[in-house]
Amino acid sequence: MNFKLLTASALAIVLGASVTVADSHADKAIMEAIKARQGQMQLYSHNLGVLGAMAKGDVAYDSAAAKAAADNLAVVSGLNAMTMWPQGSDSSSVEGTRAKAEIWSNFPDVGAKAGALNAAAVAMAGAAGTDLDALRAAMGPLGGACSACHKAYRSR
Ligand code: HEC
Repeated sequence: MNFKLLTASALAIVLGASVTVADSHADKAIMEAIKARQGQMQLYSHNLGVLGAMAKGDVAYDSAAAKAAADNLAVVSGLNAMTMWPQGSDSSSVEGTRAKAEIWSNFPDVGAKAGALNAAAVAMAGAAGTDLDALRAAMGPLGGACSACHKAYRSR
């Protein structure tokens, strides 16, 4: 191998390495954002489950527990989630997510649906501690806000 070739291949290795590092930084940031938003969704699911079990009568109504779950939903749905939805983190670009690419071409509508969830959660927070009837009445809009977004923007 002559010197020129050696230099060229050494350069290629260095360039290749730096590209790999850059890519893995980007991938890592995307995977972390996906994990964060899925964690937010899991918090929704857990707290909605507490309320749902009482609404269905599977669990005895407990005013304090109901109010705590509803307050959690109001807080978690009020987070600024902008950095959890980076470009390139849709299900057609990376594995491990069910977020449809349509999210990024309909961002205002996604924001509106997130806002609708927050409004329903705040309403639930005002109702859940009152009595079981109030909790049940606030359940429909709350569950509806979850499924409206999933129907449009979550695959499967
Ligand atoms: C503004 C849109 C939107 C709203 C509102 C919304 N979701 Fe989601 N949800 C999504 C999207 C998109 C995904 C897929 C996220 C991903 O895989 O990256 C998802 C995923 C999930 C998951 C799976 C999480 C995981 O670990 O993979 C659960 C559970 C969930 N949502 C529950 C809920 C519940 C319960 C509510 C209502 C209290 C809710 N979501 C409201 C858009 C929404």
